[in-house]
Amino acid sequence: MALGRKTLISGVKPTGRPHIGNYFGAMRQFVDFQDEYSSLIFIANLHALTTEKNSKQLKQNTLDVAIDYLAIGLDPKKTLIFKQSDTPQVAELAWMFNCLTTVPYLMRAHAYKDAVAKNEEVNAGVFEYPVLMAADILIHDSDVVPVGYDQAQHIEIARDMARMFNHTFGEIFKSPKEIILEGMKIVPGTDGRKMSKNYNNTIPLFATDDEITKAVMSIPTDSSTIDDQKDPEKDNVFALHKLFSNKKELAKLEEKYRKGGIGYKESKEILVKNISTFTAPLREKRAKIAQDKQSVLDMLDEGGKRARAKAEEKMEKVREIVGLTLSESSL
Ligand code: TYM
Repeated sequence: MALGRKTLISGVKPTGRPHIGNYFGAMRQFVDFQDEYSSLIFIANLHALTTEKNSKQLKQNTLDVAIDYLAIGLDPKKTLIFKQSDTPQVAELAWMFNCLTTVPYLMRAHAYKDAVAKNEEVNAGVFEYPVLMAADILIHDSDVVPVGYDQAQHIEIARDMARMFNHTFGEIFKSPKEIILEGMKIVPGTDGRKMSKNYNNTIPLFATDDEITKAVMSIPTDSSTIDDQKDPEKDNVFALHKLFSNKKELAKLEEKYRKGGIGYKESKEILVKNISTFTAPLREKRAKIAQDKQSVLDMLDEGGKRARAKAEEKMEKVREIVGLTLSESSL
């Protein structure tokens, strides 16, 4: 990580296989920006605990996300890759933020409100989710956070935490900014809602051809025939074409939709082919990396040590400013 560059941080939860929404909304940016920023990309295993209670599964998912990161092109020489739990300082900092924020403030968070609206019995971890996320971001003096639109409010909360803390104890945290790519804000799932592991509407990034075919063929479409004129903006298949076609192909497809001359079956077949062409090299790379688990574990270990040292350096200053450390000169 070169000096003088701005700091980028982001992470993915190890709660299942990443999908193309995670990829286009966030993960691809991790790779695209790794030369421009001093980058830290972690596996949010503490956040995963809000839903994952099976230790074996959590371990496997965590290793899988590490392999996914490498497969999409994250380079450990350029990007500090680590497990969130290797920086336990974030939980300590989250506690300090907890003592500054109010319950009504956190009750306004979308994720909490959604869970309550579904009558779910929400655990305190879900309620605290944005506080821990603020700690992840602020502990590393991060400038930018590439995420999908669903995380925008969480970055806003991180800014609020920084402001509250700085106001109370003195200037110590930077104000981070989200990077949300226009057109990739909310990648739709096979049912048209946001693609999400919670909705069973995903196309996994590392899916086999059969899985891709099954997912795409399941996309509901209206009853128009091949010759009917169709509005591409109302079709979920077309929405996904936008991610996998170049400008020329997309324009041609749009014309066929608008004039009539293409059926949904053909449109889906083209989409399957394009997704497969795009993801096949990633899949192949992933399979190779997965053969050497030990190297991946060593990389995580090394990344964890470096991230922990960095977090600890910041926390020493934070503990001092808050009044937790005692030394003769500071009394
Ligand atoms: P996770 O694993 O739920 O999501 C990982 C990233 O994928 C984005 N994303 C999407 N983007 C566009 N369209 C979609 N359909 C879609 N679905 C998911 C998410 O916005 C996210 O950027 N809370 C984070 C994990 C986290 C984190 C952090 C991120 C914990 N601490 C600190 C940044 C900084 C999350 O949602 O992970």
